[in-house]
Amino acid sequence: MSHPVAEERPVAHGDALNGLRAAIAEAPHPDIAAQRVVEQLRDRFAHYDWVGIYWVDGSDLVLGPWSGSEATEHTRIPIGTGVCGAAAASGQTEIVPDVDADPRYLACFASTKSEIVVPIFEGRDVIGEIDIDGSDLDAFDETDARFLEEVAALVAPLRPRA
Ligand code: SME
Repeated sequence: MSHPVAEERPVAHGDALNGLRAAIAEAPHPDIAAQRVVEQLRDRFAHYDWVGIYWVDGSDLVLGPWSGSEATEHTRIPIGTGVCGAAAASGQTEIVPDVDADPRYLACFASTKSEIVVPIFEGRDVIGEIDIDGSDLDAFDETDARFLEEVAALVAPLRPRA
């Protein structure tokens, strides 16, 4: 008799991880690989409206590749500021179900209702993060968090080197 596994990863997440691994392996340069990651994430998941990677640069986060219908003015965010800066400071994934109810939120897009920020690690150090904005309230859950933490491990080696 087989038993369903409650914690099983959604099929779409497994498929996406395979697609991302292939895209990274095929890209001719780490910058191009990182760009393909944000594009694939946005293409595959309808609730990922704006997808960006910020990289740590000293005491700031600096915007790297992104995919969305609009550019953000927040291209450099001090660590500790905003939801992005909070996740970088703590090393914890942040899920914000309602950005208007979170005093830390730095507004980028009028359409954003919820946000998830997932740190990218090299060893124990936060070296960047994946930031995703959603146009629906409560767009992100724990399955997004666990999935994006796996994606973060895939993109860690793509960090630009000075
Ligand atoms: N909302 C983020 C800023 C980055 S934009 O969403 C792209 C924050 O509160 O840190």
